[in-house]
Amino acid sequence: MQDQDTGICSFDADSVVLVTGASSGIGAAIALKLNALGAAVIANGTNVPRLEAVRERARHPDRFHLAPRDLLADIDQLASWVKELCARHGKLSGLAIAAGKTETIPFAAYERARALALFDLLFHVPLEIAKAAVDRRNCLPGRMKIVFIAAAASIAPNKGQIVYGAAKAALACAARCMSKELAPRGICVNCISPGLVRTAMFDETVALLGEDFLNQEAARYPLGIGDPEDIAGLAAFLLSPAARWMTGQNLLVDGGRLG
Ligand SMILES: NC(=O)c1ccc[n+]([C@@H]2O[C@H](COP(=O)([O-])OP(=O)(O)OC[C@H]3O[C@@H](n4cnc5c(N)ncnc54)[C@H](OP(=O)(O)O)[C@@H]3O)[C@@H](O)[C@H]2O)c1
Repeated sequence: MQDQDTGICSFDADSVVLVTGASSGIGAAIALKLNALGAAVIANGTNVPRLEAVRERARHPDRFHLAPRDLLADIDQLASWVKELCARHGKLSGLAIAAGKTETIPFAAYERARALALFDLLFHVPLEIAKAAVDRRNCLPGRMKIVFIAAAASIAPNKGQIVYGAAKAALACAARCMSKELAPRGICVNCISPGLVRTAMFDETVALLGEDFLNQEAARYPLGIGDPEDIAGLAAFLLSPAARWMTGQNLLVDGGRLG
């Protein structure tokens, strides 16, 4: 069966995908795409009104479950949280990790404590959730697929992206290693590394660095700056049964910026 919008294979009726960052931007676009293609979605973010607003746009709102939580609040309890979600909504067939934030920290302003906080959100939280998700009690056998949203900054960081870029590079490296360890169970693990995409995070970056930054960057994107839907289609494919032979990749999606 094909999705009329995209031609991507649809999801089986028992597919359940946990999506973090689903209240905004790239995560919201992934959650809506998966739901439109037939998967039940467990949508995480911290902002409940924004999560509810995303659900209002869902094609199958009865299969769009809200799971608000600050992922930094109690990292040691994330495994229990994932277990509870699976007990409530069904075993997982997929996991998309899109929760994140950026911080512009020039090297001169580097501080270990601040870097650790960003590493927690961009590296340790994704790994804690993924570890719980691949627990045999929490996922459908032979069906589990994981997509991490890394960043083009993991490959080619701009000034001020020392910690952000390093955390994303660490995530991409870990994903590649995980793909090898989990392949014997049929579990696929991939990263998508987007260039600049118009989201709330993008707006914050432009507000901080100014319109000159935006104009300079925009000129470097042959296909222009991206939209969340430009990432969501690929994420949905990687989480679908159609991607069963693809793992260990870090896919750069940047409108040709790094050519
Ligand atoms: N936009 C870009 O240009 C770009 C480029 C490369 C990579 N990325 C990556 O793409 C991912 C999504 O970013 P985006 O651009 O879509 O940003 P966004 O629109 O600002 O969305 C960020 C999401 O992360 C969630 N989040 C942040 N901190 C959280 C926490 N402690 N607990 C739970 N959820 C939390 C937010 O939830 P609430 O709003 O509900 O708090 C929101 O849903 C990030 O990992 C980012 O690094 C973005």
